[in-house]
Amino acid sequence: PMPIEDLWYKNAIVYNLDLETFMDSDGDGVGDFEGLVRRLDYLEALGIDTLWLAPFQPSPNRDNGYDISDYYGVDPRHGSGGDFVEFMHQAKKRGLKVLIDLVVNHTSDQHRWFQAARKDPGSRYRDWYVWSETRPPDADEGMVFPGVQHTTWTRDEAAQAYYFHRFYHFMPDLNLQNPEVRTEVRRIMGFWLELGVAGFRVDAVPFVLETPAPGAPEPALQFGYLYDMRRFLQWRAGDAILLGEANVLPRESKRYFGAAGEGMQMMFNFWVNQHLFYALATAEVGPLLDALRATRRLPPTAQWGQFLRNHDELDLGRLTAEQRQAVFARFGPEEHMQLYGRGLRRRLAPMLGDRRHLELAYSLMFSLPGTPVLRYGDEIGMGEALALPERAAVRTPMQWSDEPNAGFSTAEKTVHPAIAEGVYGYANLNVAKQQRDPASLLNWMARLIRLRKECPEIGWGAWEVLQTGDPRVLALAYTWRGTAVVVVHNFDERPCEVRLRAEVPGGERLLDLLTEDESRADASGRHRLLLDAYGYRWLRAGGLNYALQRSRA
Ligand code: NOJ
Repeated sequence: PMPIEDLWYKNAIVYNLDLETFMDSDGDGVGDFEGLVRRLDYLEALGIDTLWLAPFQPSPNRDNGYDISDYYGVDPRHGSGGDFVEFMHQAKKRGLKVLIDLVVNHTSDQHRWFQAARKDPGSRYRDWYVWSETRPPDADEGMVFPGVQHTTWTRDEAAQAYYFHRFYHFMPDLNLQNPEVRTEVRRIMGFWLELGVAGFRVDAVPFVLETPAPGAPEPALQFGYLYDMRRFLQWRAGDAILLGEANVLPRESKRYFGAAGEGMQMMFNFWVNQHLFYALATAEVGPLLDALRATRRLPPTAQWGQFLRNHDELDLGRLTAEQRQAVFARFGPEEHMQLYGRGLRRRLAPMLGDRRHLELAYSLMFSLPGTPVLRYGDEIGMGEALALPERAAVRTPMQWSDEPNAGFSTAEKTVHPAIAEGVYGYANLNVAKQQRDPASLLNWMARLIRLRKECPEIGWGAWEVLQTGDPRVLALAYTWRGTAVVVVHNFDERPCEVRLRAEVPGGERLLDLLTEDESRADASGRHRLLLDAYGYRWLRAGGLNYALQRSRA
């Protein structure tokens, strides 16, 4: 009984970018809204229909903008409020939806609320943060950035007290138990919704839902607050969504979605992401299959965001130590590639190296149950800059051309230097070059995105695992409204042949959507499929006419 096709996010193609490093229009070395507007045609042509913008509000920028000092503006480095509205207009004209980050677990320590709170115990903002007169006994626990961050409680001289910060010390946590703070969060959401955003990527959700009291045991997560947020969102905008960042266990994720879908519509599937990297590193598909099954059951209105890389380290903290070691060994053996003891500060292309392996990974991202979320620059296979500190390694300027600063900026010095050396350097690797090369990763990716759009079964349908008997091969079938597609992936560096039964509508004939091949089931009802090294196949059951005739509006 649900109007399924209204749920636009179930079959969207999301592109994540950071204003700062995308396109600089005024030559000050920092990307801006006007620059982004100039690139909207590129994004539209690639097949993107939803943008997720990293924080662009005023910020001292000590955590890539996740340290916000004013929720109601645009950092002057990126333009003005007027530029934002013009950008929204241009995005809308092209049918692009815009998600923005909602970072309300903490503010910057430069935010006027915090400044008022620390200077005056009688300030109305004092209780907007979390204080303790003495250093809590667990002050050196629960750091999110171990090795870089040394405590979660820091003393402030002006306040004569310790304040709680889940992340860096310059990002004090807001006290979301305080009803005034909750009202303010609604105001922030309402503000940006009124300007036309399609929803929010909610930063650090588990931490938003818990506010520690000094010295007390772990507080329970306040899911009621999340459901309140969702209700407010929908009052203001019926089709807006929450896309949550919560790297939690599969059973925990249920409460974030809500038993009846009253929580967030979308969450990033960190669980599948980590097991996918394990499968890519070892060709052992079993744990990935388990992860897919463990995250299978969702309320009908909910959807996973499937991603490969984002702006943070590739977090492998949910794998077993042995599994993590296997991924480190293959994709990040050197210590300076690793971060916080749990992850890799690398881009996808240099980790995988081999073009065929890269295609396998993207083919998976676009065909696993959920909505694909692509990281800017990954469509051309950008590399990382390990000389930069921490996560900045994966945040270098977009490589548009072989001109200075990769065509990103005409400034002498840019916010981060564009990658200039070697095969990943912009002289060799850039959009302009790949646009003219029919065999480029960029053109391959645009083709794949088009293919994904031709297979609505993936976003809407029910999926099942097809048995191949080969532990290195993943075969999934999606069925929706009487039609089906089958996707098969070979994780091994050697070619193989699998036999499988496709017990889906039209499954006796499988038409390959990327080559001229087709397969008819043999007398025993089985298909014989050949897969190249790291090979992948997208197959439509019954053929194209079969699907066209059967699909019902
Ligand atoms: C998660 C974001 O992805 C990360 O970049 C940031 O540092 C933390 N949240 C704190 O906002």
